[in-house]
Amino acid sequence: MTFDLTLIKSSYAAVEPHGTAVTKYFYEHLFTHHPEVRPLFARHLEEQEDRLWNAIGGLVANLEDTDTVVRILQGLGARHAGYGARPEHFPAVGASLLAALAHFAGDAWTPDIEASWAALYDTVTAVMTDAMATAGAA
Ligand code: HEM
Repeated sequence: MTFDLTLIKSSYAAVEPHGTAVTKYFYEHLFTHHPEVRPLFARHLEEQEDRLWNAIGGLVANLEDTDTVVRILQGLGARHAGYGARPEHFPAVGASLLAALAHFAGDAWTPDIEASWAALYDTVTAVMTDAMATAGAA
């Protein structure tokens, strides 16, 4: 993995106190810029904000443990095959996630931090879309 773990952890620590305000901002950003994905999210959005926030926290907390992170992402990817998520949706979701993190990190957000999150998101996308394809083919 090519991202800088220290930068990910320190920037996440700056954003973490904002809690699900971050994932709320994320969904508003995503649905404003990509209204076509809105119909995929049937579940009550507040519940989804909690789930996504917990998933991001769990991933960041386990980043040193590659096996655990890969296992979490494979499960997540396999379930996403059933949510109607497609590989081409991932850049839109990534852009909104980075926008939300940048918004709440404020002055603490730097180009190096942005590049690290982008690299981490690319890795996450690769593992999840592989698992989606496997689950979709099964
Ligand atoms: C870093 C990438 C992503 C992460 C960490 C993530 C995380 C999650 C989590 C934790 C859930 C809750 C259910 C579960 O655990 O299975 C979920 C549900 C969902 N995700 Fe994602 N997701 C990601 C990317 C995407 C993408 C690219 C799409 C495509 C638009 C998407 C669409 C959905 C949908 C439709 C649901 C179900 C919502 C509902 O039941 O209403 N996700 N996601």
